Amino acid sequence: MDRIAIEGGARLEGEIPISGAKNSAIKLMAASLLTAEPLRLTNMPRLADTRFLGKLLRRLGVEITETDGPDGPESLLHGAEVVSSFAPYDLVRQMRASFNVLGPLLARTGHAKVSLPGGCTIGARPVDLHLKALEQLGASIDMHEGYVYATAPRGLRGAEIAFPFVSVGATEHALLAAAVSEGVTVLHNVAQEPEIEDLALCLNAMGAKIEGAGSPVITITGVTRLHGATWPVIPDRIETGTYALAAAMAGGKVRVTKTRSNFLAALWDRMREAGVEVTEGEDSVLIVRDEKRLKAVDLTTEVYPGFATDLQAQFMALMTMAQGESVIRETIFENRFMHAPELARLGAEISVHGGEARVTGVERLNGAEVMATDLRASVSLVIAGLAARGETMVNRVYHLDRGFERLEEKLGACGANVRRIKGDAEEH
Ligand code: EPZ
Repeated sequence: MDRIAIEGGARLEGEIPISGAKNSAIKLMAASLLTAEPLRLTNMPRLADTRFLGKLLRRLGVEITETDGPDGPESLLHGAEVVSSFAPYDLVRQMRASFNVLGPLLARTGHAKVSLPGGCTIGARPVDLHLKALEQLGASIDMHEGYVYATAPRGLRGAEIAFPFVSVGATEHALLAAAVSEGVTVLHNVAQEPEIEDLALCLNAMGAKIEGAGSPVITITGVTRLHGATWPVIPDRIETGTYALAAAMAGGKVRVTKTRSNFLAALWDRMREAGVEVTEGEDSVLIVRDEKRLKAVDLTTEVYPGFATDLQAQFMALMTMAQGESVIRETIFENRFMHAPELARLGAEISVHGGEARVTGVERLNGAEVMATDLRASVSLVIAGLAARGETMVNRVYHLDRGFERLEEKLGACGANVRRIKGDAEEH
C-alpha cells in the first residue's frame, strides 16, 4: 500500500487547478445506462472511484472510452445494449455510489438485482429513502441475502414524493429513475447540492424534462427515451475547499483555479472569520495567509448551502493550530470524527463527545505516523502535516486516491514537500 510523506514547514505559492467533481461524475456516469446512445462527459476526474464505477458499468454492458480532449480528460460511455441488470456485492461494496445504478437499470430494463451497499466508517448510511422513492415510482422491491431485487415490468410511473429529510443520494436516485417514466413526478424536500443541478441539467441535455433542480422541489415530466449528449462535469467544490484550507494551514499565497467559488460561500465565511484572506473570482479563488496566528471559529455541518460535511475534517485540521477553542458539530453523519485521534498523534488537542468536537488550538504540531480512515479524513492529515514540524507519514492513502487526483503533484507545484512512497505499508 502506498504512503504519503509530508515534510512540514514550507509556505505555498502558486496555482492549483481543480478537477471535475467526483460526486457529480459518478452520478453522471450512471446516467449513461438510461440511453442507447453515447454520453460524452468532459472535465472527467480520473480517480479510483470513477474507475470502480467504470468496472461495474462495463459489466452491465456500457462501453467506456477514456481520452484526453481539448479541455482535459473525457469519457465516452455507450450503453447500446444493457447485457446484465446485476450489480454484485464486490463492486457495490467497494464504492457505495454504485448502488445508484439500481434506478437507471429499472427504468431501462424493468428489473435489477443490486447489492445493498452496507455501512462504512463514517456511519450506517442506510438506503431506505432510495428504496421508498423507487417503490413510490411503481417498483416492487424485495430484499434477501443482501440484495435488492426490483422489478417494474410496465415501467416506472410518476409520483408525488416527499422526503422526510434531505438526502443527496436519494434525490439523485429518484431523478435518475423518474427521468424515463410515465407521467409527472414531484420531489419535495430534495437536496440542493450543485451536483444535483449538474445531474438534472445533464439529463435535460439528454432529453429529460426536469425543472427546479437547485431548489427544494423538483418536477420531472417523464419521457419515453433519452438520447446521447456531451456534458462537462462541474468543478469539484470539495477539492477546491481542501486546497484553500491547505494554503491557509501552510501559509502563503495560492490561487485555486478552474473552479466555481460561489459553491463555497459557507467555507469562505468561516475562513475569513478565522483571519484568512479570501478573494473570490468567478472561476478561481485567491487564498492569502500571513504569519499571524489564526483565530478559532465554530462550525456546524449542514446540507447545502450550509457548511459541507465533506470539508469538516479539513477545517478541523486548520483549527488545530488556531488561537482559542473551536467547537465543531457534525450533523450529517454519526461517526465522522475518525480523524480526531489521528490529528492528536501530531499533537492536536481535540475532545469528542457524540456529534461535537472541541479543538483547542496548539502553537505547534509535530510530524508523526498516522493512518487514513476515509477519504476526507486522510486529506485532513495531509493538511495538518503541511504545518507540522518534521515528517508526517500518512498510511493507507488508497482512501485519498478515491477522491483526489494527483494530490502530490498539485501541492508540490506550489512548493509543498509531499511525496508518495510506493509499496507496502505496515498494517496497524
Ligand atoms: C453524498 O453521500 C456524498 N457522496 C457524500 O460524500 C457527502 O458527504 C454526502 O452526500 C452529504 O453531502 C456521494 O455523492 C457519492 P446523504 P450520500 O444521502 O448521498 C442518511 C465523500 O467523501 N440517509 O445526503 O450517501 C445518511 O446515512 C462522500 O465524497 C438515510 O438515513 O449522503 C446520512 O446520515 C462521503 N437513508 C444522511 O442521510 C437514506 O436512504 C445524509 O446522507 C439515505 C441517507
